[in-house]
Amino acid sequence: MILSLAPMEGITGHVFRRVHAECFGALDRYYTPFLAPPHVGSSFGGKAYKEIDPARNQGFDVVPQLLTKNADEFVWATRLLADMGYAEVNLNLGCPSGTVVAKGRGSGFLRDLEGLETFLQDVCARSSLPVSVKTRVGIQSDDEYEQILELYCRCPLKELIVHPRVQKDRYQGAPRRELYGRTLERAPFPVAYNGDVFGPEDMDSLLKAYPETRHVMLGRGILANPALARMLNGGAPATAAELERFHDALFSAYQAEMGGNAVFRMKEWWSYVKFSFADPLAVHRAVRKTRTVEEYQRAAELVFRTARRADVARFRTA
Ligand SMILES: Cc1cc2nc3c(=O)[nH]c(=O)nc-3n(C[C@H](O)[C@H](O)[C@H](O)COP(=O)(O)O)c2cc1C
Repeated sequence: MILSLAPMEGITGHVFRRVHAECFGALDRYYTPFLAPPHVGSSFGGKAYKEIDPARNQGFDVVPQLLTKNADEFVWATRLLADMGYAEVNLNLGCPSGTVVAKGRGSGFLRDLEGLETFLQDVCARSSLPVSVKTRVGIQSDDEYEQILELYCRCPLKELIVHPRVQKDRYQGAPRRELYGRTLERAPFPVAYNGDVFGPEDMDSLLKAYPETRHVMLGRGILANPALARMLNGGAPATAAELERFHDALFSAYQAEMGGNAVFRMKEWWSYVKFSFADPLAVHRAVRKTRTVEEYQRAAELVFRTARRADVARFRTA
């Protein structure tokens, strides 16, 4: 079974990937949060370059993810990525954000299936790298997926990662897992599952329903419980000491990377890792109100010294 880390903009970047792997072991594969390809003739710059800089990703199987509907820019980006040593590129057809969708990108591309097929056939033919896709199953309803799936099946994809929600679901409601099952039955290329695998019992039920599952991508579950992948491989939950060490390493790595802004970054992480504690709301409140590095460190230390751990660390939406 391949376990991969989901692309999560603002969270699962190169710093998180490295520190998490040092503390809990590497996952089989990582996807970068979405990157906009540079204009044809230009290079990846600034933050985007850091994300894919080979030196920052050494030793990990990393697949860069692109968000675009511009075929020439996609193809150009694959040349740059191939030169950097990457072996695959992933196209984001899942982002549900209003601004992205309004521009016809991410899941917004699923509104224009003719345009999408032209794009996919073109980039698959011209790309310097094999192309995988991470997709939602529609914009409004399940009924849209039949046509979308047929379209994908006509394209020579490296892999299709299915997050079986429609755009309007955002991240709410139960994943429409039967549409993943339909994809497994029909796709001529490898298929991966993503969505709401938050504990071993979710994996068990997925495998019971779809025993041919070969790749599961983990997102919020691993943020709430950093030992999730280890547990899915039969290992132990995170100890208090491991969690604190992970926190300290993550904070100092973010500090080194970006200076004082790291408090903001850490607060975003706490909105997930709070579920490792018995009273997530109280824990989150304690760190959320801090501003300076000193305030933050005091609050985090207090949490690790006094807050009771959850019996089971598990992401929840409410
Ligand atoms: C804050 C946040 C940022 C995300 N950023 C991306 C992204 O850059 N690219 C992408 O394909 N999906 C992105 N996603 C979706 C996740 O990759 C994943 O599909 C989603 O969280 C469902 O999986 P999970 O239930 O395991 O968390 C993001 C989700 C969240 C909550």
